[in-house]
Amino acid sequence: MVGIDIGSKTIKVVELEKEGSGFNLLASGIVGYQSQPITKIEDEKEFAAIGQILRKLHNEAGVTGKEVNISVPESQVFTRTIKFPLLTDAEIASAVKWESEQYIPIPINEAIIQHTILERNEKSSPPEVLVLLIAAPRIVVEKYVRVAAAAGLNVTSVETELVALTRALAPTDKTVLLVELGASSTNIAISKAGLLSFSRSIPIAGEAFTRAVSQSLGVNAQQAEEYKKTYGLESSQLEGKVKGALDPVLRMVVDEIKKAIHYYQTEEKGEAPGSIIISGGTSGLPDIISMLTGALGVEVLVANPFSHVALDAETAKKLAPFSPLYSVAVGLAEREG
Ligand SMILES: Nc1ncnc2c1ncn2[C@@H]1O[C@H](COP(=O)(O)OP(=O)(O)OP(=O)(O)O)[C@@H](O)[C@H]1O
Ligand SMILES: [Mg+2]
Repeated sequence: MVGIDIGSKTIKVVELEKEGSGFNLLASGIVGYQSQPITKIEDEKEFAAIGQILRKLHNEAGVTGKEVNISVPESQVFTRTIKFPLLTDAEIASAVKWESEQYIPIPINEAIIQHTILERNEKSSPPEVLVLLIAAPRIVVEKYVRVAAAAGLNVTSVETELVALTRALAPTDKTVLLVELGASSTNIAISKAGLLSFSRSIPIAGEAFTRAVSQSLGVNAQQAEEYKKTYGLESSQLEGKVKGALDPVLRMVVDEIKKAIHYYQTEEKGEAPGSIIISGGTSGLPDIISMLTGALGVEVLVANPFSHVALDAETAKKLAPFSPLYSVAVGLAEREG
């Protein structure tokens, strides 16, 4: 299967084939591009332009499959956990269908709605079923499908970034927090036993970090990007000036992670995540691991989305510096059916 993650700054593609309980990597590729946000595009020419970039990536990466799974940005999606009384699966499906209007802020005839049963707590009082509801505006989904179509590809399924990310990264035996640090957004998920239980997106990520460096040091965006990637949060570099610029932005991300954990523990009665797994381009920020570990007091690990994927030594070495960027695309390619 082929997974395609169309980010705001980069497009990632991964093609996998199932083998036994794992996968083989058939192809992978990544390309940077510039465009206004896809959600804002109306003009057919602009869809075609991004389609061309995707078509080229698909060709140059050596991907053969034309049936693809794509993601829509978490920032465009509404996710809620709802408690139902102890109903059957079929009853829950119909309750979701008839009642979702009260849970989502867009008219249901303009939304694509999915639900997952997270937990049946027969022993709690009252007994309850925990259901995750995800709603995406149809118009947004259609725009991403149009980009794929313009590349000559057929969209088989559309998922949210965090659903795909959870499939690629979440262990099935514990509660973890996943943070995807991209260019325009940071997405935060909590997964319990491999199921996505909580999700949130904030518009603070790589671009906000670059902007902070640019403003604080009085350098242009390109230079700021360079400083950010080279020095990051290292206090010994440039008299700590880059770190000083980045710190307040990182703090906002840390606060949001803390809020997510607090909400999950109080509102959803979940256990505190035992570790944090970071992914996305901004997870490469120098020294981010130790800063997050210090600020959150929880073990922080960099994602390895290829953990279920067989790679030869050479490919593994080549992919290593980029592997956290591929997390969503791998999750999409791992989708069954
Ligand atoms: N080594 C690095 N250190 C810090 N930041 C980095 C590094 N490498 C890439 N980035 C940043 O990662 C971002 C791109 O990451 P990614 O490809 O995950 O974004 P995206 O998927 O296009 O964005 P989004 O999902 O938010 O729309 C850019 O902001 C870039 O500056
Ligand atoms: Mg992204």
